Amino acid sequence: MEFSIKQSIPEKQRSGCLVVGVYEGGKLTASAQILNKATKNALSDLVARRDIDGKSASTLLLHKLPGIAAERVLLVGLGKASEMNNKARIEILHATFSKLNATPAKDATLYLIEDGMGKDTGWAIRQTVFVATEHAFRADTLKSKPAKAASLKSITLATLEKPSSALKAILEYATATAHGMDLAKKLGNLPGNVCTPTYLASQAISLGKTHKSIKATVLEEKDMRKLGMGSFLSVTRGSEQPAKLITMEYRGTDKKHKPVVLVGKGITFDSGGISLKPGAEMDEMKYDMCGAASVLGTMQAIAEMGLKLNVVGVIPSCENLPSGTAVKPGDIVTSMSGQTIEILNTDAEGRLILCDALTYAAKFHPETVIDIATLTGACVIALGHVASGLLSNEEKLTKELLAAGEQAHDRAWQLPLWEDYQPLLDSNFADMQNIGGRAGGTITAACFLARFTKDYRWAHLDIAGTAWKSGKEKGATGRPVPLLTQYLVNLAQKS
Ligand code: BES
Ligand code: MN
Ligand code: ZN
Repeated sequence: MEFSIKQSIPEKQRSGCLVVGVYEGGKLTASAQILNKATKNALSDLVARRDIDGKSASTLLLHKLPGIAAERVLLVGLGKASEMNNKARIEILHATFSKLNATPAKDATLYLIEDGMGKDTGWAIRQTVFVATEHAFRADTLKSKPAKAASLKSITLATLEKPSSALKAILEYATATAHGMDLAKKLGNLPGNVCTPTYLASQAISLGKTHKSIKATVLEEKDMRKLGMGSFLSVTRGSEQPAKLITMEYRGTDKKHKPVVLVGKGITFDSGGISLKPGAEMDEMKYDMCGAASVLGTMQAIAEMGLKLNVVGVIPSCENLPSGTAVKPGDIVTSMSGQTIEILNTDAEGRLILCDALTYAAKFHPETVIDIATLTGACVIALGHVASGLLSNEEKLTKELLAAGEQAHDRAWQLPLWEDYQPLLDSNFADMQNIGGRAGGTITAACFLARFTKDYRWAHLDIAGTAWKSGKEKGATGRPVPLLTQYLVNLAQKS
């Protein structure tokens, strides 16, 4: 999908379809009024005849209106101006693109950004790009006969005044972010027999080939053994697929600037191991690499933007499977940090690979470290499928990530990381155990990671509830690429 933003005169604009808003009760937006005039009251007649009532996210498609250059006009209901909120805005965009994709129009011109969607034009631009890209996404590439792609190829965001360079930059960043989400979704949806640790490593290497600013390197199990990553290596013991530790270094500015390090959980299939999961919906554990996918997507997005900062992506990747050689409940392993861990449940494997990756991350002298992981089912219970869980050892970083989530409409919610929870991880035989019991499962998982991140500013995003959708709409969401990318954009603009 191509996007552009420009000043445009509604009645003169050549386009497969113009999209203009109508408020509940029939009040026309400024651009709808202009079209109404050019069409000798075609729109106000439709309102009078109650063909459109302006109810939020309702639509009416019109063909060949007299007096205008475009082939079609899509009227979109905006609801009551006083009731407009972000949820309504998103629904309006979904209704718009569902309708547009059902037409043969190759291009569309939207007058909604400044005219009906409220004051935050930047927010509206980002969401238009994200929703349009989502509607163009195809999840059926592995079917023998994939559905035909929609005809819509190009979107113009029309403004009534000349768009500022700031708005143009927002559009450019949103487009790169949407491409990053697409990559994260594509990788997330791939089955475990295709998307192995080796496959993820090859994706990183090809990202390094496409973007000169990215240097990708892959450590093998023998390298990890030398580094003493006994915790990470214990998880891969039951698998035939070799584990990989993938690193992508993005250089956008002088070496002297410390990087942000993103660490993504890359379990390409999580069966639970010897602590085997129940069978129902176990297929969804192919999504246990969505943290890794979000790191790849974010790295691609910032490279496409050419952001002026340094970022390192680190992905520990392996499978978690049972076998005669698999790690067992009760086994004690030594992490790269030297701390010993009693593995009481082999299904709490994410923290076991992340802890060594987080120790490894210190080698990059990070400004900040953020890990992203489908870490706990408890997070889905706590926050559902709306917000990602956020836990951090620094207040300022927490605020910045929460704000970026709001800006990108990829929201997170903070949970406490208080010392009071730490004793739940005490073990009789090792420095810690890998589970803290059912209560506060997301918090104790983060408390475990906190024992490996004492030397730097760190935040943990638990995306167990937000990285993919189940049921009829099963599929990866591309989250939290928008949040992470927005955070990095904000950081680059500050420095
Ligand atoms: N990958 C899972 C977490 C998960 C489960 C995400 C369901 C999304 C949906 C993780 O490795 C896991 O199995 N966690 C356990 C931890 C427990 C054993 C302490 C969990 O949440 O049950
Ligand atoms: Mn698990
Ligand atoms: Zn897992």
